[in-house]
Amino acid sequence: MYVLGIETSCDECSAAIVEDGRNILSNVIATQIELHRPFDGVVPELASRLHTEWISQVVDAAVKQAGIKKEDIGAIAATARPGLLGSLLVGLNFAKGLASVLDVPFIGIDHIRAHLYAPQIEHPLEYPYLGVLLSGGHTVICRVDSYDSIEVLGTTVDDAIGEAFDKVAKHYGLGYPGGVMIDRLAQKGDPMAFKFSGPKMSSDYHPYDISYSGLKTAVINQLDIFSTGKPATPENIAASFQRVAVGMLIKRVEKALKDTGLKRISAGGGVAANSLVRSSLLAFEKDGYEVSFPSLKLCTDNGAMVAGLGYRYIQDGFRSDFSLSASARVSAFKKS
Ligand SMILES: Nc1ncnc2c1ncn2[C@@H]1O[C@H](COP(=O)(O)OP(=O)(O)OP(=O)(O)O)[C@@H](O)[C@H]1O
Ligand SMILES: [Mg+2]
Repeated sequence: MYVLGIETSCDECSAAIVEDGRNILSNVIATQIELHRPFDGVVPELASRLHTEWISQVVDAAVKQAGIKKEDIGAIAATARPGLLGSLLVGLNFAKGLASVLDVPFIGIDHIRAHLYAPQIEHPLEYPYLGVLLSGGHTVICRVDSYDSIEVLGTTVDDAIGEAFDKVAKHYGLGYPGGVMIDRLAQKGDPMAFKFSGPKMSSDYHPYDISYSGLKTAVINQLDIFSTGKPATPENIAASFQRVAVGMLIKRVEKALKDTGLKRISAGGGVAANSLVRSSLLAFEKDGYEVSFPSLKLCTDNGAMVAGLGYRYIQDGFRSDFSLSASARVSAFKKS
C-alpha cells in the first residue's frame, strides 16, 4: 500500500510516499529556512502562508518522484498536532480534501509520535525501548511499548534542547538554524574552555526531568564566571555549551536505562542529528545496548515519518474523521 504522508507543523513543507510502511519512494522537503533566516527564527504567519503556496506542488513532486499516480495512493496521513496552528491546518485540510476526492482512508498523526517512530522505518527496533525525543520544541525520555503506547519518564521543565541550541546561537549571532551551526563550530572548539555545569538530577520525584534554562542563561550571560581563561571564540563557546547540554541528557538516559532495565535505545527529532548526541548514545553499544537513529533526513521534520506511522495505524484499522481539527498542543501521553 502506498501511503502519502504530509507534514506542515512548522517550517518544513513536506510530502512523502512510503510503500508498506518501510520503503520510502519519495520524501520531498521544501524548507522555509532561508525565508525565516532574516528573523533568526520561524515567523508563524509567514510559515502558514508559504505552506499554502507550496503544498500542492510539494505533494505533486512526491507523487511524481515515487513514480506513481495520485490514484495509486491507498491512504493519506497528515500531521494534526502539535505545531503552529496555521501551518498544521494547511497540510491537514489538504490531506482531507485529497483523501475525500480519492476516496481513501485518512489519518491525523501526532508529530511527536512520528518523530519517535522515524527510526523504525529504516532500522526496525524490537519493542520495548527507551525513546529519546530531541527536537526544537520537545525533549522527552520515554518508554516505548509500541508505536501507539508511550509512557513519558521525563521531559524538559523549561526550554527544549533544540530551543536552547537555537537561543544560544541566536544570542552569539552564530547563524540559523542554531543547532546545526553549534554542532559545526563545536568540532573546532575546546569543550573545556568554559566550565558550565548542568542542574543536579533530582533523585526522588522526577529523576529523568531536565532543565536547559539555567545552562542557557549561563552561556548567554555568565561567560566570565565559567571561563578558564581560554578565548571566548564561537568555537569554544559552542563546544563547551554542547558538552554540557548533551552530557545532562546522557546522564538521565543512563539512569532511565538502569532503572527500567530496557536494553534498546532509539532517538529522534532534529537534535538527534547532533554529532555529540549520536556518538554519546552510540557509546552505550559497548555495554550491550542496541542503539537506533533515523538517518539525518528523517531526524528533522519530514513526510516519510508521518507516512510510516500512518501506515501502522491504518493497518490496525484506525481512521480519523474528516471533522478532526488541528491542535497546537501535544496529545496526552501517560506520565508515570
Ligand atoms: N546537528 C544538530 N545539532 C543540534 N541541533 C540540531 C542539529 N540539527 C538540527 N538541530 C535542531 O533541531 C531542531 C529542529 O528539529 P525538529 O524539526 O525536529 O524540531 P521542530 O519540528 O522545530 O520541533 P518539534 O518537533 O518539537 O515540534 C532545531 O532546534 C535545530 O536547531
Ligand atoms: Mg519536529
